[in-house]
Amino acid sequence: MLAWVRVGGVQAQLLTYNGLFPGPVIRIREGERLRLRFTNRLQEPTNLHFHGMHIDPAVDNPFLEIPPGESLVYEFVVPEGSAGLFWYHPHVHGLLARQLFAGLAGAIVVEGPADATPELRAAEEHVIVLKDLSLRDGRPEPHKATDWADGKEGEMVLVNGRAQPVLDVTRPLLRLRFVNASNARFYKLKLEGHPWHLIGTDGGLIEKPVAYDELILVPGERADVLVRLERQGEFRLLNVPYSRGGVPGITEPQPLMTLRATTAGRAVKLPERLVTLERLASASAVTRSITFGMFLINGLPFDPQRVDFIGQLGDVEVWEIGSVGDMDHPFHIHTYSFQVLSRNGVPEPFVAWRDTIDLRPRDVVRVALPLRGFAGRTVFHCHIAEHADRGMMAVLEVRPGRQATPIEQPRNGQSGHGQPKEDHR
Ligand code: C2O
Ligand code: CU
Repeated sequence: MLAWVRVGGVQAQLLTYNGLFPGPVIRIREGERLRLRFTNRLQEPTNLHFHGMHIDPAVDNPFLEIPPGESLVYEFVVPEGSAGLFWYHPHVHGLLARQLFAGLAGAIVVEGPADATPELRAAEEHVIVLKDLSLRDGRPEPHKATDWADGKEGEMVLVNGRAQPVLDVTRPLLRLRFVNASNARFYKLKLEGHPWHLIGTDGGLIEKPVAYDELILVPGERADVLVRLERQGEFRLLNVPYSRGGVPGITEPQPLMTLRATTAGRAVKLPERLVTLERLASASAVTRSITFGMFLINGLPFDPQRVDFIGQLGDVEVWEIGSVGDMDHPFHIHTYSFQVLSRNGVPEPFVAWRDTIDLRPRDVVRVALPLRGFAGRTVFHCHIAEHADRGMMAVLEVRPGRQATPIEQPRNGQSGHGQPKEDHR
């Protein structure tokens, strides 16, 4: 719904879920059933996408449009073993970028048994939605022509809807769970005086903490980190410059928020082992080659009527995902999570479940993608929202039987499809 909210110190009229920006955090446990009645009070169609969750594509359906004034019940069981941090946002093709920029996004926390690890229970947990926004006359700034190429970034970089908030931290161990819910802004996060201890990626916990000085978070991506506060005092969370290829960005570190620590905990223990993850073998029935180019995937713009790839339920496919051109593109797939096997030939240092990864110019990332749990038709796309709207999206159909005939649709290097079907300018 359209609502007035206080954002970055000013009043603004945004698109909201339940009048809140960002939307309310949905907390649920593995195995529980979520039943959500969704009413569209916008003047245009919208829908909900549960980004990263392992849900039947018939429920988390990117082809569905809910007309203005109508309601729909979204109902599904959160699978066992799927604890992690996810998020929800609209997904109507052609309207995604505008609706997301205008405020429609919220976090979903799925709790599971590993969250009861004593070290994690001792940590002070905060969910942090990173989202940028520009306002004109108290409303989200309309897209400019260049935004449809570069992806739209907002001048205000907000932490849970607030500009440079101060967070009082009262425990010596902090668990920060970041969601990048921005249309196109990449974050390279640094905390003054402290390393990050990464404990989880898009798809939940990793086996043991991995230390980083800086953490890159591309649109759509999540990170779960621990911070052991070294001493009392104030520490700024900074967004440091990152070049995403030809797009002008910040040139100086930009403060996002301040942590005010009232206790220190150099003696606090980090967990040694969090979970045991399955390691996917790279041997597979199907290897596919996917190439992202400006507004095209494998040379074609999105067509919701066309099935681009057909897979078989139960297969573990290997995808070689590459990118041409000179801009970063975050690859994202619905329903099925994957493990990165290698990047540009370099094996991935640890096992992690992901649904969103950055493709830098000329990268080739090899991933293992198990098509498990649900058959059906869904999408993968670039998570720069403007790029998705302009056609950097493709359809994957997973078929239940092994008998189904064609493995892949014939493709004929069609040309003349470089323009979006609709003019968004
Ligand atoms: Cu977060 Cu298909 O999207
Ligand atoms: Cu892109």
